[in-house]
Amino acid sequence: MMTINQFIKPKSTKRNSKGNLELGGCDCLELAGKYGTPLYVMCKETLVDMAQSFKKAFSDYPKFQPTYASKALMTKKIAEILYSEGFGFDAVSGGEIYTLHKAGVDMARVTFNGNNKTQDEIKLALEVGIGHFSIDNFSEIEDLASALQGTDKIQHVQLRITPGIECHTHEYIQTGHLDSKFGFDLSQTDSAVEEILKHKNLELKGLHAHIGSQIFETKVFEDEIEVLIKELARLNEKFNLKLDEINIGGGLGITYTKEDTPPSVYEIAEIIKNAIDKNCKKYSIEKPKLFIEPGRSIVGTAGATLYRAGSSKQVPNGKKYVALDGGMADNPRPSMYGAQYSAEVANNKENKTTEQITLSGRYCESGDILIKNIELPKIEKGDVVCIYNTGAYNYSMASNYNRILKPAMVLVNQGQSAMIVSRQTYEQLIENDL
Ligand SMILES: Cc1ncc(COP(=O)(O)O)c(C=O)c1O
Repeated sequence: MMTINQFIKPKSTKRNSKGNLELGGCDCLELAGKYGTPLYVMCKETLVDMAQSFKKAFSDYPKFQPTYASKALMTKKIAEILYSEGFGFDAVSGGEIYTLHKAGVDMARVTFNGNNKTQDEIKLALEVGIGHFSIDNFSEIEDLASALQGTDKIQHVQLRITPGIECHTHEYIQTGHLDSKFGFDLSQTDSAVEEILKHKNLELKGLHAHIGSQIFETKVFEDEIEVLIKELARLNEKFNLKLDEINIGGGLGITYTKEDTPPSVYEIAEIIKNAIDKNCKKYSIEKPKLFIEPGRSIVGTAGATLYRAGSSKQVPNGKKYVALDGGMADNPRPSMYGAQYSAEVANNKENKTTEQITLSGRYCESGDILIKNIELPKIEKGDVVCIYNTGAYNYSMASNYNRILKPAMVLVNQGQSAMIVSRQTYEQLIENDL
């Protein structure tokens, strides 16, 4: 078992006897030929290994429930694999809930998060028997209570708080600072608890927070845990409650480029467990049940995207661009928040000279650049380029911009490949057009 979040490539990555890049024992040129490009490739070995590393890292914590954050990547197959590894799920929409339900997940292991759950989504979540709601704001308390009115159902809820912690990650993926759209400010938690306690169908179980994503610092997790435990102890005392759950959200960083040096899941787990230990003693409470919602760190490194190189352009006295057959619609992260990636040419390029190029996408935006200034062996038209670490927030954020079809996704393992999401078709593209 390894701490994958310290590696850029899927565990199974190697060059085969032909010198071609191989993922999960499958030649990337053959994958590109068989399934077309762009192609999302998920390495099962890496995915399972990461899920198991998480469980192992927390195995000595008495009550632990990992709930994978579906937003990072959700398909029926991904749900099945992580469910069979003992994971629960964080869902933020009717679509994620529906997918999990159809994948055969026990919905008691699912937490419904989000800052603006619709009435229809609340109804669906209740129908399928969702385990927890993470209550984000006052209007949600009313909406949920009214959806439960007249039933004898007791719905477990956690209260999402904004712990007032700023982590040094991109502004768009920070969520725990005070001026955030998510959760209750600490000055509002008493009123929120009073409101929840008025409704006999709601049972408050604990507190939830999520401070951001792609976090490398460890101190912010210690600070978050102190806020959660202190607040849990205070609310128990003040309202004579027995809250015994904390949900610390996700956010563990991964290695997109060699400049990224996140702590391993084992290091983070030790810090989290020690912080719980210390603060439970300090605030005189029993260790609560621990929920953690990793997304990126479970699926990110397991995924890679294969593209075929097309046209290229040398700007006189400037950059050389090589255009790929995908871009910002299958991977919006670089254009959205300047995310960096690593790439390799899948074809055998042994002894070929390298050059500095910019890998651009094919979409009609100048900002559609996947990687700026990367040193790669000279790429010929038709070569296959592999961009690593695309398992998280790529397919899940993909769009049909320019009416270009969404790619297929394959799961590779020990020389076998299986399509787990088929490539969109033109018929599907227009099927909702009236
Ligand atoms: C509430 C919540 N939990 C978990 C996550 C997953 O974060 P990550 O993918 O960084 O682990 C997110 C991501 O935004 C989130 O909003």
